[in-house]
Amino acid sequence: MSDLHPPIDLADAAALSNLIDQVHAAANSDELRSIEQAHLGKDSTIVRARKALGSLPADQRKDAGRALNEAREQLEAAVAARGTALAEAEREVQFEAERMDLTEFVDYSPVGHAHIVTQAWEELEDVFVGMGFRVAEGPEVETDWHNFDALNIPKGHPARDGFDTIYVNYGPRDQEGRSNTVLRTHTSPVQIRTMLDQEPPIYVIAPGRVFRRDTADATHMPVFHQIEGLVIDRHISLADLAGTIEAFTTAYFGPGFSSRLRPNHFPFTEPSAEFDIQRPDGSWLELGGCGMVHPNVLRAGGVDPEEWSGFAFGFGIDRLALMKFGVDDLRDLFTNDIRFLSQF
Ligand code: DAH
Repeated sequence: MSDLHPPIDLADAAALSNLIDQVHAAANSDELRSIEQAHLGKDSTIVRARKALGSLPADQRKDAGRALNEAREQLEAAVAARGTALAEAEREVQFEAERMDLTEFVDYSPVGHAHIVTQAWEELEDVFVGMGFRVAEGPEVETDWHNFDALNIPKGHPARDGFDTIYVNYGPRDQEGRSNTVLRTHTSPVQIRTMLDQEPPIYVIAPGRVFRRDTADATHMPVFHQIEGLVIDRHISLADLAGTIEAFTTAYFGPGFSSRLRPNHFPFTEPSAEFDIQRPDGSWLELGGCGMVHPNVLRAGGVDPEEWSGFAFGFGIDRLALMKFGVDDLRDLFTNDIRFLSQF
C-alpha cells in the first residue's frame, strides 16, 4: 500500500488540500476506505510523518507536531464527511434497486362467471351426485326410435305430434316424408341409451340441451335445457319416487320447501305424475313430470320388467334458473347481453 502512495508532506498546505480533494473525489466507500487506509491507517502517510517528527530538531518538533495533528484532524473530518455522504448515496441506490412497485396498474375488465343456466345445471348435478346418482349423456341429434318409439310413443301416437319436433335432413324418410333423425325433443332418450349401455341397478341423471319448433316468447325457446332422472333396481316403488323428489327438493331449494305429486299421463311412465314444489310462502311451482317406468320402455332398454322396476323424472333447468335468480323472461337467458348476465 505504502508503495502506491509516495511520501507526502502533510505540513505542506498544498499537499494536504490535494489529499482532501482525493477524499472528496472518492467515488464509493471502497475507494474511500483505501484512501483512508493509505493516509490515516497503519503504515500510512500520517504514521510515517509522525515517525519523521523524531528526526526534526527539537525546536521545530512542537510546531510540526501541531501542524501534523491539525492536518490529521482535517483529513479525518473529510473522510468522515465523505463516508457519510457515500453511505447515504449507496443506500439510496440499494433501496432503488430493491424497491417494490406497489402501485401496479389494475385492469378493471371484469372476470366472467358461469351463465346462470350453467350454474343451475351444475348445482343440480351436485345435488343428485350427492344422492348417489351418476351423470349420463346422450346425443343431441337423435334417432326417432330413441326419442319416441323406445319411449312407448309409436308412430301415429298423438304425443308424437305434441312435441313440435325438428327433423334433421338425414337418414331414410317415412310415407309422410319425415326423416328418422331428430334434434332430441327431451332428455328422455338418454334413459334408453343408459339401459342399453349398462346393467341395472341404474341411478343416473342426464342434463342436456333439447330442441322444439317453438317461437321464442317469455316462457318458450326453441332450444332449452332439461334434466332427466332414471332409477332401475329391484323392488322400486312409487314411494321411492316420491321420497327421491322430496329429498331433492329440500336439498336443492332448502329446508322450507316441499314437493307433491299430481296424477298425469306420459306414455313412458305408468302411473305418471306431475310434480310441484311448494315454496315457504305456500305458493306452488309446477316443475316436471315423473312416474314408474313403463314395462314397454324397460323392454326397449333390454331390461326385464319381471325382474326390475324403476322410476323416471324430467324437468326444465331454465325455469329453475329463472325462479332462482328472479328473472321473468326466458329470452333474457339466451340474448347474451353482458349487462344482464353480469348481475348474477
Ligand atoms: N320427457 C318429458 C317432457 O319433455 C318430461 C318427463 C315426464 C320425463 C315424465 C320423465 C317422466 O322422465 O317420467 O315433457
